This record gives sequence, structure tokens and C-alpha cells, in this order.
Amino acid sequence: MSPMSPTPADPRPFRTAAVIPAAGRGVRLGPGAPKALRTLGGTPMLIHAVRAMAASRAVSLVVVVAPPGGAPEVKNLIDEHALPERTDYLVVPGGETRQESVKLGIDALPPDISVVLVHDAARPLVPVDTVDAVVEAVREGAPAVVPALPLADTVKEVEPGPPGEPEPVLSTPVRARLRAVQTPQGFDRDTLVRAHAGVAVDGDGATDDAGMVERLGSPVVVVPGHEEAFKVTRPLDLILAEAVLARRRANDEF
Ligand code: C5P
Repeated sequence: MSPMSPTPADPRPFRTAAVIPAAGRGVRLGPGAPKALRTLGGTPMLIHAVRAMAASRAVSLVVVVAPPGGAPEVKNLIDEHALPERTDYLVVPGGETRQESVKLGIDALPPDISVVLVHDAARPLVPVDTVDAVVEAVREGAPAVVPALPLADTVKEVEPGPPGEPEPVLSTPVRARLRAVQTPQGFDRDTLVRAHAGVAVDGDGATDDAGMVERLGSPVVVVPGHEEAFKVTRPLDLILAEAVLARRRANDEF
């Protein structure tokens, strides 16, 4: 028996939950419903994201962080869409920033959860293999794990100026050393709790939980992400997401 194996006294030492912040308004997508409630292939984006987490056999609880005041509506929505028998879920109201929303989700976790995934509702199509790879890396001992991809574009750091004005370039990081990070990000629960307790909300708050862990000085590792884990942010992303869904449906038929 390896030291990580379950013992009879502790049958599920790595019980895993996924926290899904879904309280954003989605302003960059244009006018309409909160982003997580917009449909893709006729199904709300949030439901795709919940199913993507529940597809992993490792995930036994999904905590959805709903728009403030929208928790009853979100709960009804999840009730209308079947989840696997093994998956429990909770809905809690969110906050003003993503950082506050994630914190509210973490605060709702039951005591027996030791591994926590944080997954944006805005990444509805992440494949289950990516979810499993993140959970596996945490279970093998990494306190914080981030799926990420190399960049196609070269990136420049600029001095931000007024919209539409030319902006001076400050530097050009070496592209081969850069990664675009995705979710779900996976954490040893204590590490994530310490990060959220130790980093105050500043302005719009942290956009990335792993970045908060880095600020604690704890190690963060990257595992391969997936191109279908992209974030639905702008109108063109909706077209791409519909195309990915159509391709999956066509492939399922054959
Ligand atoms: O705005 P952005 O695309 O970075 O949001 C990432 C995720 O954080 C989305 O799933 C969004 O619903 C969520 N969010 C939240 N609470 C906020 C703002 C964003 O749960 N106040």
C-alpha cells in the first residue's frame, strides 16, 4: 500500500469539490442575460460547465456561485438538468468581484473536502481529461495546479493609455516561456483557503486563484490545458463554442 492509499478509517482522503464562479455579468459579451445563463446549443453555459465538472468521477460536489439574488433561479435550473447520481451540488450567492465570489464558494465547502477545483462558468466546454489531469496532479502532491497552453501570439507589455491612443511598448517577453492559463485550477484545500484569507480584494480583485497562491510563496505547477477549455468572453467566442458543440454532436452520432 502506498502512503497515499486510503485507509479503512479514512476511506476518501481526497474528496474533491468544484467551485464554479458564475456571478459575472458578462459585459464584454454585449447586452443580455448574465453570461452564465446564456445558452449554447440550447443549454445554459452554466449547465455545460457544471456537467463538465460532474463528468469527472473524482468530483463528488459542485458548488455554484450564482449572481447575487439569482441563487433560487440557478438552483431551479440545475434541478431541471440531470447530473450524475454520484454528484451533489450547492448554490450560494456571489459577490462584486470574481475573487469574492470564489471566497463565498470556498466558505460553503463541507469539512470532508480536501481537494478543490475552481472553474469559470465561462469555460463551458473543458474536456473531462483536462479536469482529471488537474485533480490527479493535486492528489500526487502539488498544492496548486493550473492547466495552460503555449501562446500563438507574441505578447507585449505596454504602458496603458486612453482607449484608441497608441501605447508605448515597455518589453516583449520571450514567447516560449509564456503560457495562457485556463480553468479548472486545482488546489489542496488548505492552500486555497490560506490564499483567499491572505490576499485582500484590491480593485477588481484577483482574476486567477493560482496567482494568489503564488503571492503566498507556495509552488504552482502547470499541466497541459486544452484548446476547447477557452473562455467565452466576446461575441466571436459564442460562435466558436457553438461550432465545438456541433462537432461533438456530429462525432457522437457516428
Ligand atoms: O469576468 P471574467 O470573465 O473574468 O469572469 C470569470 C468567471 O468569474 C466567470 O465565470 C464569472 O461568472 C465569474 N465571476 C463571478 N463573480 C463576479 C465576477 C465574475 O463569479 N463578481
